[in-house]
Amino acid sequence: MSLLSRPRRLRKSPLVRELVAETRLSKDMFIYPYFITKGNGVIQPIDAMPGISRFSVDTLVRDVEQGLKVGINKVLLFGVGEDKSEDAGSAHADHTVVADAIRLLKKNFGDDLYVITDVCLCAYTTHGHCGVISHDYVQNDASVDILAKMALTHARAGADMVAPSDMMDGRVAGIRQLLDKNGFQDTPIMSYAVKFASAYYGPFREAADSAPGKGDRKSYQMDFRNGREAVREAALDESEGADILMVKPALAYLDVIRDVRMSTELPVACYNVSAEYTMVKKAAEAGLIDGQRIIMENMHAFTRAGADIIITYHAREILEKGWM
Ligand code: PBG
Ligand code: ZN
Repeated sequence: MSLLSRPRRLRKSPLVRELVAETRLSKDMFIYPYFITKGNGVIQPIDAMPGISRFSVDTLVRDVEQGLKVGINKVLLFGVGEDKSEDAGSAHADHTVVADAIRLLKKNFGDDLYVITDVCLCAYTTHGHCGVISHDYVQNDASVDILAKMALTHARAGADMVAPSDMMDGRVAGIRQLLDKNGFQDTPIMSYAVKFASAYYGPFREAADSAPGKGDRKSYQMDFRNGREAVREAALDESEGADILMVKPALAYLDVIRDVRMSTELPVACYNVSAEYTMVKKAAEAGLIDGQRIIMENMHAFTRAGADIIITYHAREILEKGWM
């Protein structure tokens, strides 16, 4: 056959495939999440997420030290088990586990570790919603005020970056203003700009003890039928001063990652969420799939879709086992 184009020419050997690979993963892109709880010497495995545990601040420091050895140097902190109240007052106290963890991590590792915090109220409210409730409705503006205070507490404790995950309107602007007023102009905001109301957060809610007591999150998180709205949400957060835009979940939303990538010049992050992690880990444990290959295929899919940054519970295993 006389064929001018034969794409197989460039697939002939590992080296030529490597040469023409369009996407390249790097460990620099990974952010690894941690759940932090009260107490001392605590390492509580989370049943729903094989390989992931809750740590108290002392065991956290030791685990981060191990992670640093394989290149896990950007972490995202979630607080679990603080006192819950109607107004989420404990979310912005000076001595939350998150604030304590930030101080201790920065003291131990300084600039060798980049500490990002999740800013949301759901682990701190009695009802488990991401904002405060009155008249049976999650109140937007009142929630933004509390979220901004929470972000400020984290910045004061030494957080390198804050990441609001609540989906209230205007919270990036609210946080930016309060941070700036208090001298934290240089603390970046990674906004969960496009966060869908999703069943893929199930295992996380066990991990963070943050499931809404009644109702769902559809009045603030996005409807998964919508893609154009995602671009609008991203643009709004950019206009409010977000430094990084995140899409969440990731695997079922690769089209959205791509759309957001095409619509902004900001870095785009994706969050490979808990159920996406759990499905792969459980299926691999059951011998039904090749865990390593599936995980690495997923990581490349995020990159190919346009993500510059990947937040994933897989990061530690990938680097520890030298899969890239
Ligand atoms: C808090 C928050 C959630 C996740 C990140 N931040 C849960 C939620 O919104 O219900 C989900 C992360 C995951 O599933 O891995 N708002
Ligand atoms: Zn929340």
